Formats: sequence, C-alpha cells, structure tokens
Amino acid sequence: MKQKGIILAGGAGSRLDPLTRVACKQLLPVYDKPMIYYPLSTLMLGGIREVLIISTPKDIPAFRNLLGDGSLLGMEFTYAEQPKPEGIAQAFHIGEATGFLADSDITTLILGDNLFYGRLDFFRKALARVREQGGACVFGYHVPDPERFGVVEFDSDGSVISIEEKPKQPKSSHAVPGLYVYDRGVGQRALDLKPSARGELEITDLNLGYLRDGKLQVELLGRGIAWLDTGTPQSLIDASHFISTIQRQQNQQVACLEEIAYGARFIDAEGLRACIEATRNPELKTYLQRVLEEPRIA
Ligand code: TTP
Repeated sequence: MKQKGIILAGGAGSRLDPLTRVACKQLLPVYDKPMIYYPLSTLMLGGIREVLIISTPKDIPAFRNLLGDGSLLGMEFTYAEQPKPEGIAQAFHIGEATGFLADSDITTLILGDNLFYGRLDFFRKALARVREQGGACVFGYHVPDPERFGVVEFDSDGSVISIEEKPKQPKSSHAVPGLYVYDRGVGQRALDLKPSARGELEITDLNLGYLRDGKLQVELLGRGIAWLDTGTPQSLIDASHFISTIQRQQNQQVACLEEIAYGARFIDAEGLRACIEATRNPELKTYLQRVLEEPRIA
C-alpha cells in the first residue's frame, strides 16, 4: 500500500509579521534548521518518501531551492501552489488537482509549523491502523490554551463525541495537533466540504465527517511527546531553545534529514557520502561522518 505525505506550508503568518513580510514562516529558523525540516522529518520517520509541499506562489521557489526534488535523500518531493489561504482541508483539493492523491492509499497531512519531538511510535501505529482498517486518525494533546485549536470533546467513558474548532468555551484541554492520517477517501470527502462561516475549508469539518461515519480514531499523546506549534514569536524562540538544549545534551541532532534518510534506509552509505559532499557546513559534515561510521541500528 502506498503512503504519501503533504506538508502545508502556506498561510498568512500574520502573527509573525513583520518577520513574515518578506520571509516565509516555514523557512524561518528553529535553532539551526528551517522550520519545515521538523515536519518533514516527522513524515520521514513514519517511513513516508513521497511528499507534496504546498505553499504560496511567492514562496514555492524558495522551498524548491532548499529541498530540490528529494533525490539526495532518497525521496520524491513535488510542489504545488495554494494561491490563497482558504483552509487546511484545501490541501486535499490541491492534492487531487495535481494528481498526487490518485495513487495514495494512506495520506498524512502535517502543518509546516508543527514540531513533534519524542518517540514517534504513536504516528507509526496510526499509519498501521489506517492501513489495516481504513478511516482516519488524529491526535489529542494536552495544552494550556485549547481555545486556539480544534478541541476534542469526550463523553464520561472517554469516547470522543465531537471536535470543536476554536471554541470559546473548550470542553476539554485536548487540542488536535497539525498531524492527520487519512485513508483513500480523503480527497472526495474534502471536495464535498463546504466553506465555514469564516470562509475556510476546515480540517475539523473533514474530521467530523469521519467521526460521523464511525471512522475516526483520536489517539491521546502523553507527556513523552513534545508538540510545539511555532506560529508566534514566543513559541518560535521557545522551539529554538528546546531544540538547542536537546541537541547539546544528547550530542545528537533533531531533524537531521540526511541522518534520518540513512537510518530509514532511504539512502545507503554511498548516498550518505553524497550528502556529506553536498553540505557546506563543516560541523554537519563531521556529524554525518560520525553517523556513517557508527553501526546503523534500525
Ligand atoms: P495558522 O497558524 O492557522 O495560520 P497562519 O500560518 O496563516 O498564521 P497566522 O494565524 O499567524 O496568520 O496555520 C497553520 C499552518 O497551516 C501554517 O503552517 C500555515 C498553514 N496554512 C496554509 O498553508 N494554508 C491555509 O489555508 C491555512 C489556513 C493554513
């Protein structure tokens, strides 16, 4: 079964203005890497090699310059424009229009400003479940400010009864992070959606459709996973500090795409040598050389 990924990296970025007046939000640095490296690494750790990157017409050329066609990483990147930010679920309209979804059995959508850190078993399990049973899987994460997100509502047995988009009075503290796994039906379901009152194709409406049909799993993520959304100045600097601290303490990189591609066997030793050759950063060269010399445990 074919699994593909979409990174949605457009949007207005108004909360980061003036940073985003010229620069694209998902290319801003999170410590030592462009923000999009983190969601891309999440897809890779799920074993996904074919990725559609969606951004604004203005920013697509910059993403192409940064990431190319993916072949150096043993991956396949394609690019598509979202002319206006008309909702997260619009990613699937674009995926249909470009033909990207036509042969995808399981499609993961990740938002370009969402950063996950920790054991990604929860994601791999979700992929396996959707592969076996179909439907969709989204996640719930405990946050202090649920009113900013889609919020999961539970009944007294802990079963999910609804998801509300940016509720004024949230019915739980569990927000839905920007990582969603869907079966083949997602393209048609997205095409059937109507824009919401704020004029957007809402991802929450897409998820509610699956919920109504008894086909939505909501997995709660525990404390072992860090989820950071990097859309505000404070969360951006917090994410940079977080990554810098982890990397220094562990003497290992977070979201090093070349290392992940090698660990996932998207590329072999020769491929990793080509990556070492391609980087201009002497410290990264040394780091990747170390990766090459250490036993590959996977
Ligand atoms: P948001 O954080 O909701 O919005 P934004 O990036 O436009 O920023 P702001 O609220 O500060 O104006 O979007 C979440 C992610 O989804 C972000 O990576 C941008 C992306 N996005 C799109 O690419 N297209 C869209 O139509 C929407 C709604 C979001």
